[in-house]
Amino acid sequence: MLIEMNDVTKTIKGALILDRVTLRFESGRIYGLQGPNGSGKTMLMRLVAGLIRPTKGEILIDGKRLGHDMDFPPSLGLLIENPAFLPGYTGKRNLELLAELQARVGDAEICQALRDTGLDPEDRRKYRKYSLGMKQRLGIAAAIMEKPDLILLDEPTNALDEKGVEEICGLIRRERDRGALVIVACHDREILEGLADEIYAVAEGRVERRAT
Ligand SMILES: Nc1ncnc2c1ncn2[C@@H]1O[C@H](COP(=O)(O)OP(=O)(O)OP(=O)(O)O)[C@@H](O)[C@H]1O
Ligand SMILES: [Mg+2]
Repeated sequence: MLIEMNDVTKTIKGALILDRVTLRFESGRIYGLQGPNGSGKTMLMRLVAGLIRPTKGEILIDGKRLGHDMDFPPSLGLLIENPAFLPGYTGKRNLELLAELQARVGDAEICQALRDTGLDPEDRRKYRKYSLGMKQRLGIAAAIMEKPDLILLDEPTNALDEKGVEEICGLIRRERDRGALVIVACHDREILEGLADEIYAVAEGRVERRAT
């Protein structure tokens, strides 16, 4: 998969959020987005996910224009901010409900995604009883369970303990190694430098590749 952002500008109510961003992302790599609060990392992910449209410029996925030739990337796993799970169901049941939408994966893949993120498929607790880190892990499980070609993770290590960070970084690398294109936004410089194949600095709407 090849994602091309060509001269993408996003303004919201007159405010310039992203300013003439041109980038290329390819399968089998982890791209890190780094930048201060409000710099536009989440907005860039929303654009690539097809959740919002550029004001100017275009986003191509394998040569096809997002928002014209397709509404959303064809194979996408997404974690952006607080995942919306149903509080009265277990983690596993929540994943089952999501999996039913696409009908691509079954029980085996769901249990695997839970284990891969350090959750127990047999855990009977309802989502509302989950700790913050468990909620985060379930969000990541939902993003990877269908083995998508494109994975967008906005602050995946938020609320995770040290061991959790290592586990999730390992998981992200395995997803990259099976050929996924992964974009990760992360505040923690050290984590991102250990994880990403390429790092992009986002500042005041501009995005630039950082020397690694
Ligand atoms: N719904 C919205 N309407 C208007 N402006 C918005 C909206 N959402 C975000 N913004 C603005 O867009 C800019 C970029 O926000 P974004 O959420 O992409 O930042 P970020 O880099 O992800 O920050 P953080 O590190 O805090 O997650 C900010 O100036 C923010 O105020
Ligand atoms: Mg953000």
